[in-house]
Amino acid sequence: MSQAALQQAFRDYDAVFPTVTDRIDAEVMSAEPLRAKLIGNFGVGFNNIDVGAAKARGLVVTNTPEVLTEATADLAMTLLLMAARRTGEGERHVRSKAWSGWRPTHMMGTQVTGKTLGLIGLGRIGRAMAERARHGFHMKIIFFDPYPPSPDVLKSLGAEQRESIEAVLAEADFVSLHCPATPENRNLMNAARFAAMKADAILVNTARGDVVDEAALIKALADGQIAAAGLDVFAKEPSVTPALLEMENVVLLPHLGSATRETRAAMGFRVIENAEAFFAGKAPRDRVA
Ligand code: 8YV
Repeated sequence: MSQAALQQAFRDYDAVFPTVTDRIDAEVMSAEPLRAKLIGNFGVGFNNIDVGAAKARGLVVTNTPEVLTEATADLAMTLLLMAARRTGEGERHVRSKAWSGWRPTHMMGTQVTGKTLGLIGLGRIGRAMAERARHGFHMKIIFFDPYPPSPDVLKSLGAEQRESIEAVLAEADFVSLHCPATPENRNLMNAARFAAMKADAILVNTARGDVVDEAALIKALADGQIAAAGLDVFAKEPSVTPALLEMENVVLLPHLGSATRETRAAMGFRVIENAEAFFAGKAPRDRVA
């Protein structure tokens, strides 16, 4: 929908249910007369919504946590494995009919089992990623999160806290981002932080594109400061910085984190559940503003 069409929706409907591609800014919410009372975001991340402006207009905002945790963690692990084992490159190789036969040193990747996974953010999705890595791949889990889970949760994941993002980056063979796209986290992965990573490390991003300085990432990959990246999200979706498209050591997916039939249905039902509660005069379960 165009910004004008979104604005009209706030005049015409009691509730608006945007997706990640709908930018609900102050201008959109300045619609007069304002009929909408609820913004039911279809997604857990709600950086597409100017929450301050929503509050100022008396709009309630809900999101869809929990129902997409497992699917998104599955996709983060998919990207980690794909980047480690060069599977995008391998598939392109076969499809292009360039494959001339098995060789002992052909397209070797890096081992995943037993390596160290550094998580930036240990919320629901970060924890689900940690479970997969720990129990499926016997990885060592280290993390940074300003609001860490309880000691019991950390114990069950065997997760060790580090005092800074830099400390995680210095030690991790794989770095997976699971933090929200708040203004403070914009370009959290910048040139200095890529320089802090190991030269053979791999970055995975299923969070939000603007958490990564894409130009700095491209330079880090080109200069061999890091080995590879697996990306499901981009700073200016759906446009992808052209240099990334040319790099063999980058796996690129079109924002598929929650894209399973089961999860997308559950997200929709969660939006509806919140709306039904709200219009029944009850507190919606997933109110974020
Ligand atoms: C959705 C997501 O595909 O929930 C999120 O934050 O990024 C994805 O699960 C997207 O938000 C749909 O609007």
